[in-house]
Amino acid sequence: MSQPNMVIGMHLGNGYGSQPGAWRMPWVDPRNYASFDAKVRHAQAAERGKLHFVFLPDGPGHVGDIENEAPHFNLDVMLTLAAVARGTGRIGLVATGSTTFNEPYNLARQFKALDIMSHGRAGWNAVTSSGEDVAANYGRRLPSSPERYGRAHEAIQLVQALWGSWGQDAWVHDQASGQFAKGKRIAPVNLGGKFVASRGPLYIPPSEQGQPVIFHAGGSPNALELAGRFASVVIGVAFTIDDARAQRAAFRDAAARAGRHPDEIKFVAGLMTTIAGDRRSALDRRIALTERTFPDRLAYLQQMLGVRLDPARLDQPLSPDQLAAARPSPRDPRSAHALNIAREGWSLRDILAHGVIDYHPVIVGPAVEAADHMQEWFESGAVDGFWVSPDIYDDGIDAFVDGVIPILQERGLFHEDYAGSTLRDHLGVPAQYGVDHRLR
Ligand SMILES: Cc1cc2nc3c(=O)[nH]c(=O)nc-3n(C[C@H](O)[C@H](O)[C@H](O)COP(=O)(O)O)c2cc1C
Repeated sequence: MSQPNMVIGMHLGNGYGSQPGAWRMPWVDPRNYASFDAKVRHAQAAERGKLHFVFLPDGPGHVGDIENEAPHFNLDVMLTLAAVARGTGRIGLVATGSTTFNEPYNLARQFKALDIMSHGRAGWNAVTSSGEDVAANYGRRLPSSPERYGRAHEAIQLVQALWGSWGQDAWVHDQASGQFAKGKRIAPVNLGGKFVASRGPLYIPPSEQGQPVIFHAGGSPNALELAGRFASVVIGVAFTIDDARAQRAAFRDAAARAGRHPDEIKFVAGLMTTIAGDRRSALDRRIALTERTFPDRLAYLQQMLGVRLDPARLDQPLSPDQLAAARPSPRDPRSAHALNIAREGWSLRDILAHGVIDYHPVIVGPAVEAADHMQEWFESGAVDGFWVSPDIYDDGIDAFVDGVIPILQERGLFHEDYAGSTLRDHLGVPAQYGVDHRLR
């Protein structure tokens, strides 16, 4: 029997959860946004379930509806992960760091220091950033895609070169002889490209996993080439098995084109969860969380289904005439699923509570439904795993860990324990120190 190898990461955002309204639930401390203790607690809950990593997206731009909702991001992802590193022992620690708005030397230094601090558990989600709102915070306009990706290719190579600039055997710290390090084994990188440059070296020794693991998130052709060359894990979005399978195949092809083995790149798709004992209780939980958004979402649901829906009749299902006339919008990949839910006879309020307009497929129901979804996608070759966004971190991570994980383990899909101590061990990412010399 081969080892079960479904990869599962946990999304950690603003301290509350992925759903609007999470911060207002009576059992949630409304100050979690600014509480590093809360972030540590949430990561500890994910680690209890043996999840491979926590993932902290970043890209400080628009804060959105600040009158009603918390910003989506962490105060500072690296400081949060530093706290989490000290409060956990095994789980991988992955954060986004923009190649467009950071100097490679700073990225190299911060992620490697985190890797040392966490004993080899750091991962860098290297993205180019895509919003003018983010660029404005750096006093800039967003560069074109070729410029952003040109810089990203150089930046990742340079960061990896800096990571390798301290020889693996250089640090002797021999008190008897008085030799601290072998100076000849620590060399400048002296790399200069069209976009970035650094002399180096970076004065940080290897971590337990050598250096951090590279992640990427994005789906454009340029993103595909970047991930194909450098990424071990792609954080993805897909609403159907067919779409996920096509994306996974495209990333695997890109890795092969770069001279790597396709299995060296793993595609993990997003999954949002509201886990409760039964469908009705789960829907009621979602309604309590998100009902404030329903007027806007109902207007959008009309476009997805191509029929007029009456906001005064939220308690009613679609009429037989409406169902006969409804057509899923080809412009939104979520529309066919929304129509299927409507055909099951749910009220308009319950259709919306199923999360048919969320950022990822959503499980609203008992744990076994999440396990079934994950098994089906995994066994269809659509994904290597998932990154999970619970509705409310304070109890939604526990619901996933106590409900879904044991089912996946029982079915032989998910490991019983971590394979080793580093993120590379957990994911089966091959050893690498410095740049990857195989890249074409
Ligand atoms: C699942 C997912 C997660 C992402 N996370 C981030 C993030 O944390 N920070 C960020 O700046 N961009 C993030 N992005 C945006 C991508 O990096 C990329 O900029 C975007 O997909 C636009 O692609 P393009 O620049 O290749 O056109 C994410 C994208 C996806 C699909």
